[in-house]
Formats: sequence, C-alpha cells, structure tokens
Amino acid sequence: MQQRRRHAPGKALVTSVHDVPWLELVVLAVVALAAGSVIGSTLRLGISPMPSSGPARRAVLSLVPPTVHGEVHELGCGWGGLAVALARHCPKARVIAWEASLLPWLVSRLRARGLPNLQVRRADFLRADLSRAEVLVCYLFTGGMRALAAKLLSERPGAPVVIVTSTFALHGWAPAAVARVDDVWRTRVLRYDGVPHRPPPSAS
Ligand SMILES: C[S@@+](CC[C@H](N)C(=O)[O-])C[C@H]1O[C@@H](n2cnc3c(N)ncnc32)[C@H](O)[C@@H]1O
Repeated sequence: MQQRRRHAPGKALVTSVHDVPWLELVVLAVVALAAGSVIGSTLRLGISPMPSSGPARRAVLSLVPPTVHGEVHELGCGWGGLAVALARHCPKARVIAWEASLLPWLVSRLRARGLPNLQVRRADFLRADLSRAEVLVCYLFTGGMRALAAKLLSERPGAPVVIVTSTFALHGWAPAAVARVDDVWRTRVLRYDGVPHRPPPSAS
C-alpha cells in the first residue's frame, strides 16, 4: 500500500508504510512494557528486584547449612541468582523461590532449568505456606521484614526454622550469627535460629 504525498524538494518524508521503522518501534514497546512492569511491581511491593552482590551472596551461603534435607524457601528471589546458588549449595534440599514480580519471576524460571531441586513460584510469599520450611532466606526491606515477622509469629511460634536475612534485621529478635560483608555498604547478613513464641518487647 503506497501512501505517496507531495513534499518540498530536499525535505525528508516517509513515503511508504514500508519506511516505518517497525522493528525499532516493536523493540521500544517491549522495552517500555518490561520497564513498566518492573517499576509497577517495585511500587506495589515496596522493593525493586535488586540482586545481592557476589560477596553478600557468599555471606548468605556461609550461614545456610549445606546439609539441609528439607525445604529451603527464598522469599523474593528477584532475578534468581541467589536461588540458583542456594540450590547448588544445598543439593539435598528442595529450594522453593518465591517472586511476585512478573519479569524477574520469568528470568528466575529460565535460570532454574536443569536444577531439579529448585522450584520458582510466582506468588506473594506472605500468603505462602511456609509451615514445612527448615530454612528461610531473604533480602527485603524494613516493611517486608516486619510483615514476615508477624506472619512467622502467628503461624510458626517456637518453630526451629533458620532465617538468614541480608541487610535488614528482624527488629528486636536476637541473631545467632552476624556476618559482615566486605563491600562498600558493609552489608550485614544475619542468621536467626528459631521463631520466638511471642513478639520481643522492643519489636512492637
Ligand atoms: C532486593 S530483591 C532480592 C532478590 C534476591 N533475593 C537476591 O538477594 O538477589 C527483593 C525481591 O523480593 C520481591 N518481593 C518483595 N515482596 C514480595 C512478596 N511479598 N512476595 C514475593 N516477592 C516479593 C521483589 O519483587 C524483589 O524482586
């Protein structure tokens, strides 16, 4: 279909639908949709899918017992780097990685291929059944940690579950171990051995 128009000599003009840069427009639309999806999820969840740094990831692994046989849950796995590392670190465990944001979940799913002990689920971990978890791993934010503490205190008081968290503490809970990461942020990774029976006084 030709759409020829008159134009002043010397001036550039799109003369045909074939001249429209469709490929560039499609690429631009896909990039805009992907960015919009990630930004929308970040605003909704309160945190971006920012991955743990290499040193922080190694510090997390150093606090997760590699011999665990049961369920290891990663709460908010982002792009899947830590989930893959956890599945390799605990070959006998069943690693379940939760992610609510579409694109990071999709990438994590792809990265999990070939790792039979890693399952990536797209859902809100605050609604997930964590009753069989032996280890919980997360890198969240203050509000997310508060919501997680409330969930664990109401659903699993006194449970011997190991919780390993990067950067953000469970406010008022006493960590059993703290690792300092040698990075620019001096990231802290904390391990808690068990859920208290009731909220610590300073956590309210
Ligand atoms: C800072 S990133 C950490 C990514 C990964 N754990 C790592 O350390 O590399 C936090 C992730 O948690 C996800 N997230 C936050 N709240 C969530 C929720 N309630 N349910 C599922 N995913 C959540 C976010 O979408 C984000 O991808």
